[in-house]
Parts: sequence; structure tokens; C-alpha cells
Amino acid sequence: MRSFICANWKMHKTRLEAGQTVSSLVSELQDTDLASTEVVIFPAFTALDVVAQALEPRPEIRIGGQNFYPALEGAYTGEISLAMLQDLGCSYVLAGHSERRHVLMEDNQLVARKLHFALQQGMKAILCIGETLEQRKQDQVRQVLGSQLQSALEGLAVESIQDRLLVAYEPVWAIGTGEVARQQDIAQAHSLVLEQLQAWFPEQAQEVPILYGGSVKPENSGQILNIDNVHGLLVGGASLKAEALGKIVQSSLKAS
Ligand code: PGA
Repeated sequence: MRSFICANWKMHKTRLEAGQTVSSLVSELQDTDLASTEVVIFPAFTALDVVAQALEPRPEIRIGGQNFYPALEGAYTGEISLAMLQDLGCSYVLAGHSERRHVLMEDNQLVARKLHFALQQGMKAILCIGETLEQRKQDQVRQVLGSQLQSALEGLAVESIQDRLLVAYEPVWAIGTGEVARQQDIAQAHSLVLEQLQAWFPEQAQEVPILYGGSVKPENSGQILNIDNVHGLLVGGASLKAEALGKIVQSSLKAS
């Protein structure tokens, strides 16, 4: 399986800043063959067009939407549709990111609607799951990941997941905190995710990339990518700097 390096820029960067970062990234990666790594950037909506333009020299680098509303179009003030994202060149979306769950109060039900809708519409979707520190302390990791996966995957047609579904394990307490999950915890969570995927999709589970996210940086990315069942990374803070993102991409080439 190819590796995946996904850059989640969250609510950062004006158009100018986003364009400059991507231009620097393109220079960082100018001698890099990306055949074995899929790089995906998730800028703010407002910067999608400049990011797409700046990526013209590297069309194999993909772009995605951090959010969308699960309807074709309609009276949903402030929301954005998949067609609008596709129009800007997006082939990926995120669903269930912990900041959407915990800050914007998206529940499992809405996350499931979004995931199903995106996959049905032919987008690649990264389903994000992860436990809080409290849940980990109370030994509820298996239960939390299990129920987040179950509610999101229930009723999904096998045909809609093939080459489209990705899962990101992102322990909430590791996101943006500088704290990284221990290797054994990552390995355990990823094997749990794989086990659940196998229960739902026995034939296809092995093909579903499972990414890790939470305080990934150039200093730890190679090591994390070498853990069993880790097929890629979802990177927030460190992905805002072209040099760091470039190094993380390079580490995926060494790890593969
Ligand atoms: P972080 O964010 O790398 O800043 O911890 C990861 C994420 O939210 O996807």
C-alpha cells in the first residue's frame, strides 16, 4: 500500500500565505518521486484555489476539504457542498475530526451521514476517530473506537469504500498538544481499527489505509510510519511549515 501524508491546515493561512507555503513545498520536493506516497493538503476553503494553482507543477499532490455539508445543495447557510469542493479540485474530505466533534459538537450520527454521503458522491474520505484522555484513563479505548467506527461504517456499501475510505486514529489528547501516543498504544489502536474493519468488510479491510494523527513532526514521523498497520499520517501544526512538511513526506519515502 502507498503511504499517505495529509496536511490539515485547520483555520490557518490567508491566500497569500497558503500560496507561498505550497510554492516552498514544491521546491522542497522538486527532486522527490512521489509514486509511493500520496500527499494531500487540506487548506481553508478560501485558499483552495490558490493552493490548487500553486500545485500545478505537482499535479499528483491532492487537495481536500476540511468540512462539507451532506446534501447536494440547498438552504444551509454557511455550509459548503461536495460539488463546490470538487469544482475547486478537491478529491478528499475529512469527516469526524476531533475538533468538529468536540468544538463544533458533531455527533456520531452526523459524522456517519457525512461519511456515507461523501463516499456515495465518489470522494475519498478520511474518517477520524479517537479517544479523549479521560476515556483512555478509564480503559475505554476499545469501546470508544469501536462505537465511533460502528456508527460510521454501518450500512456502508462495500463498493463505496473501495479506494475511497481511509481511517485516521487521532487520540484527542495528542492533537496539538505536543504529546504523541506511545508506539505500543498506536500499534494497539491500529490493530483494533483493522480488526473492526475486518468485521465489517472482511475482503477489503486490508486495503483501507489507517493513518495516525496527533503531534506528528519531522522528528517522529519516520518512527511512527514504521509501526505495524500505520499507513500514513494526518498532520496539523507541523504541516503549516513547508520545510517540516517536506521532511515528513521524505520520511514516508524512507519508511516505505
Ligand atoms: P496536530 O493536529 O498535528 O497539530 O496535533 C493533528 C490533527 O488535528 O489532525
